[in-house]
Amino acid sequence: MKRTKIVDIFAPELIGNQVSVKGWVRTRRGNKQVQFVALNDGSTIKNIQIVFDMAKFDEEQLKPVTTGASIHVIGQLVESMGKGQTCEIQAESLEIYGTADPDTYPLQKKGHTFEFLREKAHLRPRTNTFGAIFRIRHHMAIAIHQFFHDHGFFYFHTPIITASDCEGAGQMFQVTTKNLYDLKKDENGSIIYDDDFFGKQASLTVSGQLEGELAATALGSIYTFGPTFRAENSNTPRHLAEFWMVEPEVAFADLNDLMDLEEEFIKYCVNWALNNCKDDLEFLNNMIDKGLIERLQEVVKTEFVRLPYTEGIKILEDAIAAGKKFEFPVYWGCDLASEHERYLVEEHFKKPVIMTDYPKDIKAFYMKLNADGKTVQGTDVLFPQIGEIIGGSVREESYDKLMTRIEEMNIPMKDMWWYLDTRRFGTVPHAGFGLGFERLLLFVTGMTNIRDVIPFPRTPNNAEF
Ligand code: 4AD
Ligand code: MG
Repeated sequence: MKRTKIVDIFAPELIGNQVSVKGWVRTRRGNKQVQFVALNDGSTIKNIQIVFDMAKFDEEQLKPVTTGASIHVIGQLVESMGKGQTCEIQAESLEIYGTADPDTYPLQKKGHTFEFLREKAHLRPRTNTFGAIFRIRHHMAIAIHQFFHDHGFFYFHTPIITASDCEGAGQMFQVTTKNLYDLKKDENGSIIYDDDFFGKQASLTVSGQLEGELAATALGSIYTFGPTFRAENSNTPRHLAEFWMVEPEVAFADLNDLMDLEEEFIKYCVNWALNNCKDDLEFLNNMIDKGLIERLQEVVKTEFVRLPYTEGIKILEDAIAAGKKFEFPVYWGCDLASEHERYLVEEHFKKPVIMTDYPKDIKAFYMKLNADGKTVQGTDVLFPQIGEIIGGSVREESYDKLMTRIEEMNIPMKDMWWYLDTRRFGTVPHAGFGLGFERLLLFVTGMTNIRDVIPFPRTPNNAEF
């Protein structure tokens, strides 16, 4: 008999049919006459209730049916008298696939802290909360592909192993097959990579942007969506050493086109969650964050603020003059700390802010220089609770200006000749951005720690599982 997934079992036309369900036991309760099992198979946040008439089953048979055990039940689907469910299954047969010893299975009924569950990351997808989060994660990935596909963007695969540091922040993980106990060095003590696997120093990518620009200046509009690695030693609830980034890149786009794309894209993804993840969002709204759904609905409706950095600094300075206290100083040229970003978004404007035109010294080499010679056409999208969710820019398309920045910033260009060729041959104005997938998920799920929206988080001192 064909198995029915629990997500499909609540269809009214199935009532009265014999059904076969398979899943993991969430709870079992009852008495000598009747036993109730709540079964979940991961296809939905909802459990199906299975009723065992103990006149037809013996106690020994149900003993191994404990929290975490996997079972197969065949029975009749009937309307339910009980509160909170529309239907239930009157069990006719029971098969046990695997038991879960109550003395050692870590996910017993009682609520666990997220810290505890992080240590059980191999089992936490079986909890309601993480089931919901990982289903939403899937749906958001689909939303991303759908959005770009519908807008004529091509999904372009950029390499994970690379020799260039796109962001120039020196946060790359090296990739080598060299014997670390016996490194060949030159007379200055520098490591010689000639005999390493790639014949040069190689690392895991911090961004697919540079290769994305090659593709955009050929295919017009592209996006990448893949794993990204940063060896930044910041142990915060918003940083991972391995995260997923979405990076669209668009030829012939200017700053306004870029901001329009950023805003439309985020709204599309949030709206997708509201339309496609109703049950899971309702669960998270009830259990984790009572304001979640309202906040998501609000963002879809709200026009984002577009704020030049220089004006942002003025607002912060005025706030300080009026008595607001920040831990870090504010002055033109400073890199805004998360407390400053949050003040602007959560207290001053009370809506998402796209900040633009940053001082060139705090941004990457590829950003287009403004006519003032001091600021660049970079954008950060700042979100309530999250802070920076997107970083993007118009790219410097002039070969000469780009070379000047590269020299000013001492960027090693030995391995970047191919990037400069985009500016040497048929260069065009273009722009793009990077959205941190897990930061988007933080916003959409209402979770507060980025370690809880990726199945197996990698952070300083943690590469378990
Ligand atoms: O602002 P970032 O560093 O920008 C870039 O990498 C550009 N090359 C993107 C582009 O223009 N194509 O990173 C982009 C986004 C950030 O806004 C943030 O959401 C996310 O990536 N991000 C991280 N997410 C989790 N953990 C980290 N360590 C992250 N670092 C950046
Ligand atoms: Mg950034």
